Amino acid sequence: MPNILENISLKPYNTFGLDVNADYFVEVNHLSEIQEILHKKDPRFENMLILGGGSNLLLTQNFHGLVLKNNLKGIEVLEETDELVLIKAGAGENWHQFVLTCVKAGFGGIENLSLIPGTVGAAPMQNIGAYGVEIKDVFFSLEALNLETLEKEIFDNHTCKFGYRESIFKHEAKGKYMITSVVFRLQKFPKLHLEYGAIKDTLKEMGVENPGIKEVSDAVIQIRQSKLPDPAEIGNSGSFFKNPEIYLDHFEKLKSEFPGIPSYPIDEKTVKVPAGWLIEQAGWKGKKINNIGVHKKQALVLVNYGGGNGNEIKELSQNIQADIFEKFGINLHAEVNII
Ligand code: EPU
Repeated sequence: MPNILENISLKPYNTFGLDVNADYFVEVNHLSEIQEILHKKDPRFENMLILGGGSNLLLTQNFHGLVLKNNLKGIEVLEETDELVLIKAGAGENWHQFVLTCVKAGFGGIENLSLIPGTVGAAPMQNIGAYGVEIKDVFFSLEALNLETLEKEIFDNHTCKFGYRESIFKHEAKGKYMITSVVFRLQKFPKLHLEYGAIKDTLKEMGVENPGIKEVSDAVIQIRQSKLPDPAEIGNSGSFFKNPEIYLDHFEKLKSEFPGIPSYPIDEKTVKVPAGWLIEQAGWKGKKINNIGVHKKQALVLVNYGGGNGNEIKELSQNIQADIFEKFGINLHAEVNII
């Protein structure tokens, strides 16, 4: 039986650096350990929070129950042809380290997702994405432990029901599974995704003419480092809100008032508008309230400068939501899980 600790601060386990306590806390390195804990059906552990890298989490209060940190490791090539590779990674592997391992091996497809904080197991939960690539584009399958039956189940691309920062694990399967490993389908001669302007510009600045996956990964790392705060220095959980999708007629009205408003087409009826732009226009960018605030280089990122608490951040997010609704008639939805 793994060592279950009592009354533990979760500060080192969430990238916002919020200092709340868990009644019980355990790190698991093997599937059998999880099964052993859950098999007992201990009422103290009925309320359970599964943690990966804690990078998409806003903790507003002490957690009364068991926090289980998923440390399942291991990277293994399952199948390989001249062109393709199926590679499996344990849910507890650090996402960025996994990307670097793949890049080094010459396996392409996730280089645009370099430097995203968190773990492999958390990546499919919200279909992480950046610079024109989402997990669903390279996802093959995942294995998850059904927390009720304690049986392993396999999910494929279809059953995961991926959407923009969405999957079944944020909806009907929420709280019912623990992802234990993920299989990716990567390419040895991948089509590079350079359509994001910033990637092309950065490669140019780097003096790269014929980029490969390593150069794309380096460019993405450079862009992220220049815009996004490093959670090791300033507490944050990346984009706090999702980019909203609005109807075209609503967009046209806004455009007549704000001609500079950026947009990305979704279909004939809807466009996506960058929340960062809306928040900046509304005057929130760089705003500091006590120890928390809105990042000065990316308005979509809320930050904890140290000593802030989750409720202050939640309140700030609600004030931003109300203001954006008032100014633009748009509802912003949080991307992070508020607990
Ligand atoms: N913008 C502003 N002001 C800001 C921030 C952004 O005007 O303060 C404008 C930019 O000028 C640009 C547009 O908004 O026209 C988009 O900005 P950016 O490329 O920085 O991306 P984003 O839409 O703000 C999304 C993802 C990020 C991902 C980037 C790059 C979401 C919620 N966020 O951000 O993902 O890295 O695109 O692909 O979709 C995350 O999910 O945690 C995350 C960091």
